Amino acid sequence: MPLPWTLTRLSGPRVVVDLLREDDLDALAAIQSDPDICRYMLYEPRSRERVAQLIAESMPLDTLTADGDDMQPAIRLADGTLIGTLYVKLVSAADRQAEIGWALSPAAQGRGYAAEAASVLLDALFGDAGLHRVRADLDPRNTASIALCRRLGMREEALFREDLWFKGAWGDTAVYAILDREWRARRGGVAGDAPGVA
Ligand SMILES: CC(C)(COP(=O)(O)OP(=O)(O)OC[C@H]1O[C@@H](n2cnc3c(N)ncnc32)[C@H](O)[C@@H]1OP(=O)(O)O)[C@@H](O)C(=O)NCCC(=O)NCCS
Repeated sequence: MPLPWTLTRLSGPRVVVDLLREDDLDALAAIQSDPDICRYMLYEPRSRERVAQLIAESMPLDTLTADGDDMQPAIRLADGTLIGTLYVKLVSAADRQAEIGWALSPAAQGRGYAAEAASVLLDALFGDAGLHRVRADLDPRNTASIALCRRLGMREEALFREDLWFKGAWGDTAVYAILDREWRARRGGVAGDAPGVA
C-alpha cells in the first residue's frame, strides 16, 4: 500500500528492523554518546537522559504520511540485540521522495549489517510505500557512509560546498540517491527476495 506507510517488523537474513523500545536505552546511549559515531552526525555526543527522551519521542513514530514525517527504526540482530539505527524522513509525499541515514555500534561495523538493514528498508520504501526516489545527505569525508551508499547502488548526485556551519567550521554536503526502478533492477525485479547488497 502506498503512503501513508507504517513500519512493521522487517527482516533480512541476519538483521531485523523495527521500532525502538524503552529497553534499548543502554545500547542506544552507548552508540549516540560515542564521539567516533557522532563525528559526521549533525548532533554532538548525547547524554543518557537525552537518548531516553529521544527513544520516548521516537517510539510512537511509525508512519510516514506528510512532508517532514520521520522515524528512527532500530537495527537488531535476530536475538533482539540493538546494534544500530536507521533514519528515514519523508521529504515530499507529492513527489514520493525520502531521505535515509544510518548508524551502527562500532562492534557491529564491518560485517555488512548496515547494508542489509538499509536494503530491507529500501525494499519497503520502494515496495509497500511506493516511493520514487531515496537520497542520503552526508559529509563527503565520511568514507564509510559513502561506501555504504555505493554498496546500495546509490549515485553521487551533488556536492554542495560549505552549505552548513558544522561543528565550528564550514562543511560540505554530498548527496547520494537511488530511484525505484534502479533499486528494482538491482534486486532482480522482486523487492525483498535477495540480500544482494554487494
Ligand atoms: C556508516 C556506517 C553505518 C557503515 O557501517 P559498515 O559496517 O561499514 O557498513 P556495511 O554494513 O555496509 O558493512 C560494510 C563492511 O562490512 C564488510 N562485510 C563483512 N561481511 C559482509 C557481508 N556479509 N556483507 C556485506 N559486507 C560485509 C565489508 O567488506 C565492509 O567492510 P570494509 O568497510 O572494511 O570494506 C558506520 O560506519 C557508522 O555507523 N558510522 C558512524 C555513523 C555515521 O557516520 N553515519 C552516517 C551519517 S551520514
